[in-house]
Amino acid sequence: MIIAVDGPTASGKGTIAKALAAHFALPHLDTGLLYRAVGLQAALNHGNPDDPGDACAACEFPDSLLADPELRSEATGSLASRVSVHPEVRRALYERQRAFATQPGGAVLDGRDIGTVIAPEAEVKLFVVASVPARAERRFREMQAAGRSVTLAEIAADLEARDARDRSRAEAPLVAAPDAVLLDTSDLGREAAIAAAIGIVVARRHSG
Ligand code: C5P
Repeated sequence: MIIAVDGPTASGKGTIAKALAAHFALPHLDTGLLYRAVGLQAALNHGNPDDPGDACAACEFPDSLLADPELRSEATGSLASRVSVHPEVRRALYERQRAFATQPGGAVLDGRDIGTVIAPEAEVKLFVVASVPARAERRFREMQAAGRSVTLAEIAADLEARDARDRSRAEAPLVAAPDAVLLDTSDLGREAAIAAAIGIVVARRHSG
């Protein structure tokens, strides 16, 4: 079974995808980490993330970069959103994601275009959303816990900029697949959101 979990930043999709993978004993890939690695590598190369050539060169990042704590920072998230606009970058990362999705036994992948581009045949597609204030508050608490100094207003502004870029890009924009189930986590705690997601997967599996 392939489970595709898409949605904007800090919607809860990562937490939900991880929990679904544990519950259904499936391997999980956070595809945002791949785009973050490209963004961070572009910065390490002193390249311009908005330049397709520089962004493409950064697709040759070492696997060790995937364990770098800097990958989770807001700054790297913004770089990721900028390099992910380039079709060449999306193509370079396609095979790796596709191979993960189609491995025997299935997988859970979370990102922006899993249900639309990477695994359009996924048995279950979830599109996880939440209001900007709810997402900004969550991200703010995560950043505080990680000891990063950033204000709530800065986070909200960054989320909105990233949403706009992800939704408006020409290639693989952030959009729900027509057969995706929408899950709004604005008023749900962690456990309630996970329980709702498990319920959706179970219901879809029985109806398919
Ligand atoms: O999910 P995360 O915040 O880690 O993703 C960082 C950025 O990578 C997103 O803002 C988006 O621009 C890009 N991304 C993407 N397609 C994916 C996953 C992430 O374009 N499947």
